[in-house]
Amino acid sequence: MTVSRREFIQWSAAAASLAATGCNLSTVPAKATPKRILILGGTGFLGPATIEVAQARGHQVTMFNRGKTRPDLFPGVEKLHGDRDPKKGEGLKALETGTWDAVIDNSGYYPRMVGASAALLAPRAKQYLYISSISAYKEPNPENGTEDAALATLADPAVEVMGAEFQNYGGLKALCEQATQKAMPGRATIIRPGYIVGPDDPTGRFTYWPVRFDKGGELAVPGAPNDPVEIIDVRDLDAWLVHLVEQGTMGVFNACGPETRLAWGSLVEAFQKAGNANAKPLWIPADVVAQQKDLEFPIWAPYAGETRGFHTWSNTRAVKAGLKFRPALATVQDTLAWFKTQEKVEKGRNKLAGPSAEQEAMLIAAWRKSPAFKG
Ligand SMILES: NC(=O)c1ccc[n+]([C@@H]2O[C@H](COP(=O)([O-])OP(=O)(O)OC[C@H]3O[C@@H](n4cnc5c(N)ncnc54)[C@H](OP(=O)(O)O)[C@@H]3O)[C@@H](O)[C@H]2O)c1
Repeated sequence: MTVSRREFIQWSAAAASLAATGCNLSTVPAKATPKRILILGGTGFLGPATIEVAQARGHQVTMFNRGKTRPDLFPGVEKLHGDRDPKKGEGLKALETGTWDAVIDNSGYYPRMVGASAALLAPRAKQYLYISSISAYKEPNPENGTEDAALATLADPAVEVMGAEFQNYGGLKALCEQATQKAMPGRATIIRPGYIVGPDDPTGRFTYWPVRFDKGGELAVPGAPNDPVEIIDVRDLDAWLVHLVEQGTMGVFNACGPETRLAWGSLVEAFQKAGNANAKPLWIPADVVAQQKDLEFPIWAPYAGETRGFHTWSNTRAVKAGLKFRPALATVQDTLAWFKTQEKVEKGRNKLAGPSAEQEAMLIAAWRKSPAFKG
């Protein structure tokens, strides 16, 4: 597994806490028939943005979580407390009553727990949306893979640890999907996002780039301009999740954007446009980057070898089901604007992934010394 692939999985699994969402409602169309939506989670990254869209659309939202993370968020939203693990404390007791048009399961990482909530809610919920991941696919990923690609497997399907390098995350996600489908046959919607990015992202992965470009000066950019890159703005994903609820759409969907293949070079141009005018990106080939020990560039992955297919998942099915994407530049600008506010507002949400200044300088020096460097 490459560094970039590994850090995708680690951060996706970690699902840390965050600040209020600031959802751009310009993408949210006219009101729909009100639905009762239960969100398992609701206080991390995806959940708050979904709640914003659902409320703006006139739906009635309830969230279920442990009440540990940002308990003051959404004072007007019904809150049920418990644990995804039925063996812990009150477990799923709070979910023993109530009826729902849709359950959105954002916080399920282990099939025993996802299966327990899906089975408990099956008689009282019309639809169960399980948020999986492209990590659920077997590695190495095929190029232009569809939802029919092979899924990851685990030697021990009952394992309940992610592993030191989160190596069980993908296999567990695949098993959680299967647990959902078993409990809700024909009424499950499985969503497999790639990198979820945008304002409020607690991982600092995508955010590293607009912030680094905004700092200005010479900066290292790995790979080549034509390398593909897939991202999805959290606000686009959440608007679509609510749309799937409104339409009662079932099935399995990759959720990677944008609609047509995005070149890493085009995204770099967006970083330049949004950032400091004196930022000077220095392109450094993937093989030179790979030689630097412990150097991790977030988001980008080499368009070669084991990661060739990583940023090329097909989104045709999702687009047909109504997934829409805002321009990458808007995501870049809004992420940078949010990060600047966040620095002052909520400490702990403003961490960044990516290399340190020293690591970046060392890489640039190594590249300048390389015989392939043309100056
Ligand atoms: N970020 C990415 O790029 C990416 C990519 C692909 C897939 N994904 C998937 O997207 C989802 C991320 O969702 P999110 O964290 O943003 O969701 P969210 O709806 O914001 O929910 C997160 C909340 O779930 C609650 N929770 C966690 N463990 C719990 C437990 N044992 N029992 C009850 N509640 C629990 C926590 O609140 P309390 O602490 O209050 O309980 C946490 O703040 C994950 O399924 C992840 O695998 C992410």
